[in-house]
Amino acid sequence: MRTSRVSGFYKKSVGERLEIVKDFAGLDQADVDLLADMNKAVDIETLNSLVENVVGCMTVPLGIAPNFLINDKDYMVPLAIDESSVIAGAANGAKVIRDSGSITAVAPEPLMHGQIQVLDVPDPYAAAIRLLRHKDDLIEKGNHVDPVLVSLGGGVKDIDVDILNSGIGKMMVVMLTIDVRDAMGANAVNTIAESLAPLVVEIVGGHTCLRILSNLADKRLVRATATIKKQSLGEQTVRGFIEAYHLAAATPYRAATHNKGIMNGVSALALATGNDFRALEAGVHAYAARSGQYQPVSTWEEDSEGNLVGSVEFPVPVGTVGGMSKLHPVARLALKILGVENGKELSAVFGAVGLVQNFAVLRALVTEGLQRGHMSLHAKNIAMMAGATGAMVDKMAQKMVADKSVRMDVARKLLEEMS
Ligand code: MEV
Repeated sequence: MRTSRVSGFYKKSVGERLEIVKDFAGLDQADVDLLADMNKAVDIETLNSLVENVVGCMTVPLGIAPNFLINDKDYMVPLAIDESSVIAGAANGAKVIRDSGSITAVAPEPLMHGQIQVLDVPDPYAAAIRLLRHKDDLIEKGNHVDPVLVSLGGGVKDIDVDILNSGIGKMMVVMLTIDVRDAMGANAVNTIAESLAPLVVEIVGGHTCLRILSNLADKRLVRATATIKKQSLGEQTVRGFIEAYHLAAATPYRAATHNKGIMNGVSALALATGNDFRALEAGVHAYAARSGQYQPVSTWEEDSEGNLVGSVEFPVPVGTVGGMSKLHPVARLALKILGVENGKELSAVFGAVGLVQNFAVLRALVTEGLQRGHMSLHAKNIAMMAGATGAMVDKMAQKMVADKSVRMDVARKLLEEMS
């Protein structure tokens, strides 16, 4: 049976891991070669076509978190990140959760907002009503701009108007809601917003300034939940989760760190799949602050039997088509490894990854703390920074961890003594 559950994935060599992923995702040898050889993966001319003034590339590690079971389907999740412990946390957290059952995730319809800012409208309240009476014309005109999107079932779905009391007086904002299908949608939304602006001015008067998407994609919320049996954690740990969550709910000082842990997984998946992680981060943090107090985007509670229940809810402006996800060969491969059929399924994986990441970190924080698990990888980094290479890296790292002194001065001294 095809399963993403792999024991001791972290103990295997890179080659062995690639073989496991190859079998799981049905990769061909060319895919494996591309992952194994960075020079093959990154073609400078492709990079040159993505952004301006290219002189090279900055590489970050791409790892796989196995063990994910989401809506009863197995996933191996590719994560691109330079921070140690994140991929290990995701793999381990997903394993513990799946022993209690599948993560349930509900993906949103791919709805994005666009805003058209209109200034100096003489009669904004009456003008808003005039505009709404032309809603159908505006929707039709907006949909002319992108007939392909419309043929796929997307396009402009709604138009609304806000009158804001801004620092420079009353300001009208025309709010577009656009179904962007499998795309992240920035290009579609911006094009439609720009093309509708002249008709808006014709109807309401004044003049437009900004015509741009909003990253607060609050109609595109993923929701994911998992129940972890109390027997697998112990009552004290379950209690610890709830106490930790309530600290985050009570103070933004903890909520910011709590959400940062969630974004470690979410942004790493975004980077791996060629999605705009800055858009995601802006959206998630704006959503977290929507009540006026910055809040955690996950909750932890107990069910009637004392099991731990975690849930997340956050915006997922991500896609499987367009931009980097199609052009970057590694992003294309990451999507192939995930095996998602469309943007909605990808959104569900984003929700599950955020939940698992939060679970893994909180579990460590409410039990033994982070540093023990973190230190062995951190020690390797310190050993390398001190100049260690090859087998010396592990040797020095083990000694520093055993002596509980993972420091640069210690690493330099050890290097002298051991080499
Ligand atoms: C570190 O990158 C993320 C954590 O601080 C998250 C958290 O505290 O929940 C460990």
